[in-house]
Amino acid sequence: MAGPIYAIPGSVQAPAAVTPAPQSADAADDAPRTVADVLRASQVEAVLDELDRDLVGLAPVKQRIRDIAALLVIDKLRLAHGLAAATPSLHMCFTGNPGTGKTTVALRMAEILHRLGYVRKGHLVAVTRDDLVGQYIGHTAPKTKEVLKKAMGGVLFIDEAYYLYRPDNERDYGQEAIEILLQVMENQRDDLVVILAGYKDRMDTFFRSNPGLSSRIAHHIDFPDYTPGELEAIAGKMLAAMSYRFAPDAAAAFGEYLARRIAQPHFANARSVRNALDRARLRQASRLFAERDRVLGEADLTTLTESDIRASRVFAP
Ligand SMILES: Nc1ncnc2c1ncn2[C@@H]1O[C@H](COP(=O)(O)OP(=O)(O)OP(=O)(O)O)[C@@H](O)[C@H]1O
Ligand SMILES: [Mg+2]
Repeated sequence: MAGPIYAIPGSVQAPAAVTPAPQSADAADDAPRTVADVLRASQVEAVLDELDRDLVGLAPVKQRIRDIAALLVIDKLRLAHGLAAATPSLHMCFTGNPGTGKTTVALRMAEILHRLGYVRKGHLVAVTRDDLVGQYIGHTAPKTKEVLKKAMGGVLFIDEAYYLYRPDNERDYGQEAIEILLQVMENQRDDLVVILAGYKDRMDTFFRSNPGLSSRIAHHIDFPDYTPGELEAIAGKMLAAMSYRFAPDAAAAFGEYLARRIAQPHFANARSVRNALDRARLRQASRLFAERDRVLGEADLTTLTESDIRASRVFAP
């Protein structure tokens, strides 16, 4: 019953292929009897381990995901005993500041839900208000239904979900989208998981005005800001994934860069780290480009120097 290995869309790397475990020789008892049986058959452990390994920090988030996986595994064992198995509601809300890993974790969650057989396909469809709500009367229902159709069998990720509700405008079409969502979240929860994402305070306000929606969300998961140390570790992982590295004094300069950048407006956690590294790569390229006749070795091509970091305007007086 192991699901197919497939590429996850988006910026996240697909999990490495895992060889299926050999099936038990005794064909009569192929129903899972232990947690290990279910984990082997679903290969979900590989995704959980990858989540632990690839993502820096996020300990409470990782624990919640393990808890949800445990519930689904135990449900499978209960099913093998013919025990009642009401499909648990798995709609979720991910709150946190920009760049704290919400989209990344949602992609992994889709993969886990798929491997445990909760959803058929395990893909993720990410949308915002404009994808669901039309400009004119009669446009919203078809738009929302089209998105739901695409997401069926996977995860519908609604970023900044609170924009669906505009209290200042009584006749806003967002309400229509919310009502269709509510119905599907209730009636088709065995084949679609909805994840609402956004800032914590705005989401709280949104839920107060939409108690029907709030009551259908089983899991509220909060994504804290990363510490400076975690951001440095994230930078290290991103560089390694792109086959770059810091020169020794560049790593220290990047630490200083982060301290300054965090204090500035619009700091976006891991997303700001990624952007900073992209700009450092541009500077490295320009630096190397200027030396027309120099033979460039692997070390030259992979190393970001202290000057590549310090040229940032974050260091400007
Ligand atoms: N804990 C982490 N470890 C390593 N990389 C991370 C971590 N969290 C986020 N990233 C990386 O940072 C970038 C931004 O993450 P992501 O898009 O998941 O954040 P988000 O919370 O969805 O942000 P936004 O609110 O801006 O959409 C991605 O490239 C992601 O791979
Ligand atoms: Mg996101």
